[in-house]
Amino acid sequence: MARLTILRFPDPRLHFVAKPVAAVDERMRTLVDDMLETMYDAEGVGLAATQVDVHERVIVMDTSEEHDHPVVLINPELVWKSEEMSVNEEGCLSVPQTYDRVERHARVKVQALNRDGQPFELDAEGLSAVCVQHEMDHLMGKVFVEYLSFLKRDRIKTRMLKKLREEQRAR
Ligand code: NI
Repeated sequence: MARLTILRFPDPRLHFVAKPVAAVDERMRTLVDDMLETMYDAEGVGLAATQVDVHERVIVMDTSEEHDHPVVLINPELVWKSEEMSVNEEGCLSVPQTYDRVERHARVKVQALNRDGQPFELDAEGLSAVCVQHEMDHLMGKVFVEYLSFLKRDRIKTRMLKKLREEQRAR
């Protein structure tokens, strides 16, 4: 397994729209395993392939308390969403040290393929529902800061670019 580089906002590649996965083969399983390792290493609860510069519809997540319940979603499709909405504080591995409130459906149902290419359905609520909607946005090229006001988003962008420049200088 290998740790992958996570793209950081405002990298334009975070806005690419992911394509469906054609086959759940060895290459796909390697990608999934690498994404899981990368997510756990970064102490995240979810990661979309878009964030590691692979533009295919793949998500890994683990919202369990003990970080021992990995969920793999290949070609996920939202099949149901609750009318009830819920506002939660979100963060993103592509936007470090940035947290803000986003409104999402409180519960969703998603169909996807697992790591073996088998179809399954995920009933998500709470953190799991937030996570799956956040990650599916990534596959559509959308980062959660786009839900915030222009002013906030601009401030985050400025801060991220400043940080990037500092890191490049330190190298
Ligand atoms: Ni994210």
